Amino acid sequence: MRCYWLAAAVAGLSLWASCCVDEARGQPTRQDVNGLALNYYTKNTNCTRAETNIRNLVRAAWELDPSITAALLRLVYSDCFVTGCDGSILLDGERSEKMADQNQGLRGFELIDNIKQEMESKCPGIVSCSDILHLAARDAVSMAGGWNYPVFTGRRDGTTSNVSDVDLPPPTISWDDAVAYFSSRNLDVLDLGTLLGAHTMGVANCHYVHYRIYNYNNTGLPDATMDCRFARQLAATCPYKPRRNRPEPAVFLNPTTGASYNFSNSYYANVLSNEGVLGIDQQLTTSRDGVRIAEEYTRSFKDFRRFFANSMNRMGRIGVLTGKLGEIRPNCRFTRANFPH
Ligand SMILES: *[C@@H]1O[C@H](CO)[C@@H](O)[C@H](O)[C@H]1NC(C)=O
Ligand SMILES: *[C@@H]1O[C@H](CO)[C@@H](O)[C@H](O)[C@H]1NC(C)=O
Ligand SMILES: *[C@@H]1O[C@H](CO)[C@@H](O)[C@H](O)[C@H]1NC(C)=O
Ligand SMILES: *[C@@H]1O[C@H](CO)[C@@H](O)[C@H](O)[C@H]1NC(C)=O
Repeated sequence: MRCYWLAAAVAGLSLWASCCVDEARGQPTRQDVNGLALNYYTKNTNCTRAETNIRNLVRAAWELDPSITAALLRLVYSDCFVTGCDGSILLDGERSEKMADQNQGLRGFELIDNIKQEMESKCPGIVSCSDILHLAARDAVSMAGGWNYPVFTGRRDGTTSNVSDVDLPPPTISWDDAVAYFSSRNLDVLDLGTLLGAHTMGVANCHYVHYRIYNYNNTGLPDATMDCRFARQLAATCPYKPRRNRPEPAVFLNPTTGASYNFSNSYYANVLSNEGVLGIDQQLTTSRDGVRIAEEYTRSFKDFRRFFANSMNRMGRIGVLTGKLGEIRPNCRFTRANFPH
């Protein structure tokens, strides 16, 4: 259904340059090393309370700010998809991965720093930053209402982080390109459809949805795949012209859970009602696989929780460093070699 109500707002205005739709580039990742284990720290080190201590710190942070769950999940995704789950997203540097455009607005670094500090004081040189990230994300997911799933650990940290390695696609990516991107990391369409469910707790700045609610693809109309009433609702938060000297407004990726930041399957029901916020959210319903996934998770919250845990673990295996590879950083922002003493 087309939404003519907005046409007047847009008619006659010159169009902004359309840009930045990167092709999903397949980038070879390091070979998976099958050296991860459940309860790695309890079984193989004297740091037996690592997971418990991490959970306590995450709980304190989550109680102050439940939006931390989405922030941690985004960190895991940005880390794992680029040069593997090696904590490279955490490294500081003028040209490190976190400086990439796609990584603007990443949050949660301070929580990881706090956890690392506690780990180093209790059992120095044992717990990797990359494991901290995965354990913290799991803890936050379970606090938000997801499954408290077991996390494979034993990762070690990488020693490089280069902004030019960052090939994360924009949210305008098509379903087929997103499937191909996931497949370049040995993840499949079910992982894609499932991990998109993380958006049940997410927030996006208006510039990520502007093109969908005004003048989509130069039609002068909203995206035809978006429910009209919903487009109007988004437009109320995201004005056509950004207001000057005001911070950019943001919208919830799942207005049903909104500020409760709950882990919920309502995201999928919304997408099935053409109320996806980002392009990629609505892309879910452009394929038979995506619709099948959304219908199943809408029907069964239990399946969503389970499969989400499974896909998190599958993502958490991408390009891991184990055994003698990599290192354990003293501080997640610096490699051992660059650690300022
Ligand atoms: C644990 O601590 C004991 C006593 O200090 C030590 O002998 C042992 O090697 C340690 N084990 C590991 C895996 O570090
Ligand atoms: C980052 O990657 C680019 C492109 O591969 C390369 O030219 C550059 O030397 C790398 N920088 C560092 C610090 O390794
Ligand atoms: C955008 O418009 C062009 C030209 O009308 C059309 O060929 C293309 O399929 C449209 N793309 C989308 C994503 O709607
Ligand atoms: C969010 O989840 C918490 C804990 O499971 C629950 O107490 C709360 O009622 C939920 N809020 C909403 C809006 O679903």
